[in-house]
Amino acid sequence: MRYLTIALTKGRLASQTLKLFEKLGMNAEEAEDKHTRKLIFEDDKLGIRYFLAKGPDVPTYVAYGAADIGIVGRDTILEEGRQIYEVMDLGFGRCKMCICGPKSARKALVSGDLIRVATKYPHIAKDYFLNRKHQTVEIIKLNGSIELAPIVGLSEVICDIVETGATLRENGLTVLEEVCDLSARVVVNQVSMKMENERITGLIRSMKEVL
Ligand code: PRP
Repeated sequence: MRYLTIALTKGRLASQTLKLFEKLGMNAEEAEDKHTRKLIFEDDKLGIRYFLAKGPDVPTYVAYGAADIGIVGRDTILEEGRQIYEVMDLGFGRCKMCICGPKSARKALVSGDLIRVATKYPHIAKDYFLNRKHQTVEIIKLNGSIELAPIVGLSEVICDIVETGATLRENGLTVLEEVCDLSARVVVNQVSMKMENERITGLIRSMKEVL
């Protein structure tokens, strides 16, 4: 039997995904070991192998068929824009994509001024401002600690993930507008969905049962 290959997202989503795998009867102990340098894990009994990758790479592995299935945040799915099927909301990793900044930036958002928006998600930010708000903005791509941008004067606002809101609060910033809800999703390669339909739908059914 051919292995079904699953790409998981490293970091915040990893521990909840591995817990889900354990509930499905997979041995996730090896992958949970933070010191392991092993990249790929197999479960011969279930005919499944899985690996952990950086979030933005998960839709890439799935789109090219190097992984049949992926588990990744909706933010990354929207940002990467790959041709893949999104088949299930896993319900964990819930947060929101928001436009944030100091309270004083609200005026510029309402009046539609040409402002700068710092973000790790340039496609999501561009889609929101140009297609939904019809506001021309300058988007500045950053790779992390986005909240710094309005504090040091790089941008008026940011487009970023808000989970607990603690990072905003501790830095004197606030949510100005909500872009969309986010959570962990299951994505599937379009060819695999046809060729391995029974096994993939069976796996999705099992996930729904244990969640
Ligand atoms: C994310 C996000 C915010 C923070 C929000 O950053 O970009 O900075 O979490 O979480 P909170 O609302 O619970 O405070 P992450 O920690 O992933 O790191 P990064 O800043 O390097 O992107």
